[in-house]
Amino acid sequence: MTTRLVASGLSKSFSGTTVVDNVSFTVDAGQIVGLIGPNGAGKTTLFNLLSGVLKPDSGSLAVNGVDATSLPPYRLSRLGLVRTFQLARELDKLTVLENVQLAARDNTGETLAGALFRPGAARAAERATTTRAREVLALVSLSAHESKPAATLSGGQKKLLELARCLMAEADTILLDEIAAGVAPHLVEEIAVLIQRLNRDHGKTFVIIEHNVGFIRNLSSRVVVMASGKVLAEGSFDHVAADPAVVASYLGQAA
Ligand SMILES: Nc1ncnc2c1ncn2[C@@H]1O[C@H](COP(=O)(O)OP(=O)(O)O)[C@@H](O)[C@H]1O
Ligand SMILES: [Mg+2]
Repeated sequence: MTTRLVASGLSKSFSGTTVVDNVSFTVDAGQIVGLIGPNGAGKTTLFNLLSGVLKPDSGSLAVNGVDATSLPPYRLSRLGLVRTFQLARELDKLTVLENVQLAARDNTGETLAGALFRPGAARAAERATTTRAREVLALVSLSAHESKPAATLSGGQKKLLELARCLMAEADTILLDEIAAGVAPHLVEEIAVLIQRLNRDHGKTFVIIEHNVGFIRNLSSRVVVMASGKVLAEGSFDHVAADPAVVASYLGQAA
């Protein structure tokens, strides 16, 4: 089986406090891995380490078999791993379509040399990017909104746009940090169905942080539970849900 992601002994401290503490886990191609744990467990910090937003103090990371330790996000994206980012405020005024176009892996149409010396090729590349952006918007059911400024979307639609930007980057592994949080229930269901479809029909591998336990139970092939910066348990949802340490630290509160 192809391995998408191997984290080995990742650690990160802020001002002497260890927030991610010697975390190791593997994600195989085709999995949807749920990452759960109480607030402050270090889940988002771990995502920041996996996506190159933060450099680990120690430990290593491999993406699709290539050492990716301490690489910046754009290099990780080229190796095949991206995470969703909240839409930057400066992109609010741009349209939905423009937001997706800007996430394209190679914006050849925008290089100055290309525009000056090979205008035909630059225009062709731009057309290809636009075609692909429209395909991605269709996948996430935002086609009808392509001309609207991103700022006018609902919270749930913005989450779909964040996911569309990830898809535009053509990575095979996508990290989703609380994509269902604060989203209207009908859109939560739509997002769950979309993740399943992207996994099944488009070969995308996911790691999803989510507090909605039902969402995790329905989607995840495997669950990793974090508490106080460490991996507390991992396995099937039913396996971790039956673990007394997990119940005590997390699921017990939710129930
Ligand atoms: N940049 C930072 N500087 C200092 N402390 C941080 C920083 N980022 C996160 N933390 C702390 O690390 C801990 C884990 O945070 P986080 O990774 O966001 O947890 P989770 O996503 O599981 O809720 C928290 O105590 C948080 O305050
Ligand atoms: Mg978090």
